[in-house]
Amino acid sequence: MRVGLLTGGGDCPGLNAVIRAVVRKGERHYEDELLGFTDGWRGVIEGTTMPLDVERCRGLLPRGGTILGTSRTNPYKVDGAVEKAVATLRSKAIDALIAIGGEDTLGVAHELRGEGVNIVGVPKTIDNDLSATEVTFGFDTAVQIATDAIDRLHTTAESHDRVIVCEVMGRHAGWIATHAGIAGGAAEILIPEEAFDIDVVCDNLRRRHEKGRFASIVVVAEGAQPKEGTLSLQSGEVDQFGHVRLGGISNVLAEEIEKRTGFESRVTILGHVQRGGTPTAFDRILATRFGIAAIDAVHDGAFDQMVALQSAQIVRVPLADAVGQLKTVDPGLYHGVAEMFFG
Ligand code: F6P
Repeated sequence: MRVGLLTGGGDCPGLNAVIRAVVRKGERHYEDELLGFTDGWRGVIEGTTMPLDVERCRGLLPRGGTILGTSRTNPYKVDGAVEKAVATLRSKAIDALIAIGGEDTLGVAHELRGEGVNIVGVPKTIDNDLSATEVTFGFDTAVQIATDAIDRLHTTAESHDRVIVCEVMGRHAGWIATHAGIAGGAAEILIPEEAFDIDVVCDNLRRRHEKGRFASIVVVAEGAQPKEGTLSLQSGEVDQFGHVRLGGISNVLAEEIEKRTGFESRVTILGHVQRGGTPTAFDRILATRFGIAAIDAVHDGAFDQMVALQSAQIVRVPLADAVGQLKTVDPGLYHGVAEMFFG
């Protein structure tokens, strides 16, 4: 078979490990020809490709990013792009496509079934907000990076008796904030799923500090929202999937905390550090298992499906189940565990 591959959306540690696994099993076991489309759906629209084979994939396993490049191009938002994408796949004689991405990339993959395109999805996002899989690769790496950062922030915050607001990624879901906050012993964790009350946040910090000199780390997901009418946040540019560019809530928070409590407050925005660099062993293994399962799914004709992790097993789920609704943080984990350590 001739099998195409693309990586779409934000990059994520483990993408290259998926590509390597697909290519290894595709070439060696199934005798497939593999073709990479560059920069996500843009490569399919414009017909820009790179050949993929086992030799080209050597050394990829620990490498962050994606050798195919990525973009947030949405063919359904560009005039004539869907037709162009379908024409490219025909002209390059692609029998099936493996799309590695999050909700947006896989949403397009699911839509394209109507055009007769055979697609298998692989779930990717550091945000871990994709439904139908217990975890996405990249999440473990991001949590580890954020936890390491919080550990470091603790020692400097303690030395200066400061509050440090650490902003992590998480547009719609606070998985990274919750996990890294629990692992890093945060005094407060603010996530998009739970609108926060700045008065409560400040009361918790006062309670913590009243017994003497003790610093606090507040972990905030970039998409966290204050309760209506309590704080105003700026909004930024919007991409082709309608997402606002986030980043910066921590500045507003730190200023407000300092103003209300008098505690000296500082900000650290982890940003793309969380998406870069080498994947953890967990993510390398998960990405490898997903890659192998994806090429198997192609050969079983299991199209319009996504490979997923459920109860430690790799399974196949309909793409519709994966993209229908975002997977948000379990309230039991947030209220039952994380919140026990606030203040
Ligand atoms: O991939 C999802 C994500 O990590 C979000 O948490 C974040 O808002 C976004 O990517 C940032 O994307 P970009 O690099 O395109 O600004």
